[in-house]
Amino acid sequence: MDHFLYRDGRLHAEDVDIAAIASDVGTPFYCYSTATFERHFTVFRDGLKGLDPLICYAVKANSNLAVLATLARLGAGADVVSEGEFRRALAAGIPGERIIFSGVGKTKAELAFALANDVRQINVESEPELDALSEVAVSMGVRAPVSFRVNPDVDAKTHEKISTGKAENKFGIAYEDAPRIYARAATMPGIDVVGIDMHIGSQLTDLEPFREAYTRMRELVERLEASGIAIPRLDIGGGLGVPYERTNEMPPLPTDYGTVVREVFAGWEDREFECEPGRLIAANAGILVAQVIYVKQAGERRFAILDAAMNDLIRPALYDAYHEIVPVIEPAPGTPTYEYDVVGPICESGDTFAKARKLPELKAGDLVAFRSAGAYGAVMSSEYNTRPPAPEVIVKRDEFALARPRLTYDDMLGRDEMPDWLNPE
Ligand code: LLP
Repeated sequence: MDHFLYRDGRLHAEDVDIAAIASDVGTPFYCYSTATFERHFTVFRDGLKGLDPLICYAVKANSNLAVLATLARLGAGADVVSEGEFRRALAAGIPGERIIFSGVGKTKAELAFALANDVRQINVESEPELDALSEVAVSMGVRAPVSFRVNPDVDAKTHEKISTGKAENKFGIAYEDAPRIYARAATMPGIDVVGIDMHIGSQLTDLEPFREAYTRMRELVERLEASGIAIPRLDIGGGLGVPYERTNEMPPLPTDYGTVVREVFAGWEDREFECEPGRLIAANAGILVAQVIYVKQAGERRFAILDAAMNDLIRPALYDAYHEIVPVIEPAPGTPTYEYDVVGPICESGDTFAKARKLPELKAGDLVAFRSAGAYGAVMSSEYNTRPPAPEVIVKRDEFALARPRLTYDDMLGRDEMPDWLNPE
């Protein structure tokens, strides 16, 4: 459930009228709901009761500082994949002891930054990374807390571009190599082995791949511990899917997910669990609001051309992702619908949000909202076509604030520098 509902025929975020925000900040813009973030966080936490994991929110899903600070106040830690995200988490008030550093290509400089900021754990994904980390830690006179991300070779049954747990994917150390690498790590001067990690993909809508991966995790931990290597921490990753198409899509609920995790790890409740959900917390806590610029009839097709584009929300272009599109002014019951190709103004055909989408009649000036845009929306935006990315607004009850303003054209152009040979005397 989220807090983007019609009230008196107008779409609201909590108690704030979306059209009023549009008049204030202009379109397009992202709008986030504090109550929805809080609700998703709480529902997820309650689903895992008994294991009581440290919930390290995957910052990549939505890294706005206001969003991170909202989650930090609920007790969230952070899962970060770059020094930039690490800095965001710290800036939002999440201490290093609650930050997990993940990612397949961390540089030595990034590893040093993490160690200098008391990182909770570094999820190491390869032997060269392990060697680099040990070297950096020794040079700093510390020991690095390490979990290995193990690739369980499980099919997550999700979009191929966001599947990460098959042997052919670039992620993690191979399952069969794990015992040897753990044994080696245990002898290294700069390394403290603290745990194990698995993340098999994103937008999972089936619980079986989780059950398979976690079962393999448990078996591996038993093997490692039999060989004398203690694995106190279990990081079970993120990946639980959300409903994008509410009418015919029902991914498992966090309570069902929790049941699977509890079943697989029965008897291990005293261990330290961690998880890294991103989308589940953020996706349905945000919408992207846009205005119709033109409606154009071209032969059989009717195009609604918006002022938002693939530079603001790239998921449809990149993954053929479905986002529900709703008018900001609620259509009266029984209003006829028409099929629209909903597109942006960017000069390529991929700048299409939806094809033949049934919507009530749209006119220039109408506002529409893309639902489920709180995760992997603003964070994946770009300035393609020299378009200022959509600003971000956050709502709390009857208040709203600009959490990231729109760049001005001066901001955008002012960052480029002319080489000397092009500067006039
Ligand atoms: N942990 C790790 C190591 C990850 O790589 C990811 C996501 C997560 C946690 C969080 O997964 P989530 O709970 O959000 O599914 N841009 C794509 C999604 C990419 C996900 C990458 N990794 C999209 O728009 O669908």
